[in-house]
Amino acid sequence: MTELLTAGIVGTGMYVPAKVLTNADLEKMVDTNDEWIVSRVGIKERRIAAPEETTSSLGANAARAALADAGVSASEVDLIITATITPDMPWPSTACHIQRALGATRAACFDIEAACTGFVYALSLARNYIATGMYRTVLVVAAETLSRITDREDRNTAILFGDAAGAAVLQPVKAPTGILATYMGADGSKGELLELPGGGSRNPTSHATVDSRLHYMKMKGNEVFKFAARAMASSNSKVLTKAEMTIDQVDLLIPHQANMRIIEAAARLSNLSMDKVYLNLMRYGNTSAATTAVALAEARIEGRIKSGSVCLLVAFGGGFTWGSCLLRL
Ligand code: COA
Repeated sequence: MTELLTAGIVGTGMYVPAKVLTNADLEKMVDTNDEWIVSRVGIKERRIAAPEETTSSLGANAARAALADAGVSASEVDLIITATITPDMPWPSTACHIQRALGATRAACFDIEAACTGFVYALSLARNYIATGMYRTVLVVAAETLSRITDREDRNTAILFGDAAGAAVLQPVKAPTGILATYMGADGSKGELLELPGGGSRNPTSHATVDSRLHYMKMKGNEVFKFAARAMASSNSKVLTKAEMTIDQVDLLIPHQANMRIIEAAARLSNLSMDKVYLNLMRYGNTSAATTAVALAEARIEGRIKSGSVCLLVAFGGGFTWGSCLLRL
């Protein structure tokens, strides 16, 4: 058997729409207030895509930034994997729409759906394609327009979600840099706690599904909350064991940006102090698959990640799904 190659991230990029939706704006839409949102969740504002923007246009913008950062042209990309729960349309895939926007004509394209864990899952896939030598340059894009499936009349969810995209270019790299280990988990029995019930084969789109607001996401927030911190901590422990490393060797934790209290609990359970945790949820809210991708790109822009830094990405989300990706940049 031929030896496996080491895959690494050689470029990152991000894009957020210009329009800002603040807690004060939300106070005019639902029965909520800035103090409650900041203390219970930690979000101050989120970005909302303009009407002409789509998940693929956000994703293409992030992808262009990642390709420029990597010094890789669109024509060099062998595969585009897009992680999203808000595709441009059921099909063709959002990855195909991004391919067209970029002119990445050589690339194979597909989407994956692992909700907020999508970027971490996609990195794991990309790593394997590179490790086996099947593809050399893989573009992973995590892009969401959650504003299109958020019920602005439901204060449980209206305050949480925003729109954004992040991207990463992966290629073979020389150890000790590169992806050190990945871990993916799921529990389908908890699916109904966080779901978009309408528009699929179970509830095909009809006047009734629209009238019942089934095309907006539904969430049992408390149940999700209870599960999330433990799932992320356990995921971190599993990926560190796989890499034969300890939490002390991690320079920066990049967690899914859903709720400050969940992040603090996950960090505590992972025995990591908060000064080693990257946070941007106050600015963008929960952008599902995009949070970890945007946070990784932004942490690099801000200089929080240096050459040789060990980063631990961790996420959880609908499905339920959860996962971690440990890498040295
Ligand atoms: N503004 C003001 N008050 C609100 C509110 C809002 N947006 N949403 C709920 N409340 C009220 C409730 O009605 C309740 O009032 P009561 O005590 O008078 O009945 C009180 O606040 C507490 O509600 P509760 O649902 O227990 O709050 P919570 O501390 O669990 O916070 C979430 C709610 C949604 C913020 C929290 O459960 C959460 O973040 N869950 C995880 C969600 C998530 O991350 N989803 C995405 C996963 S990828």
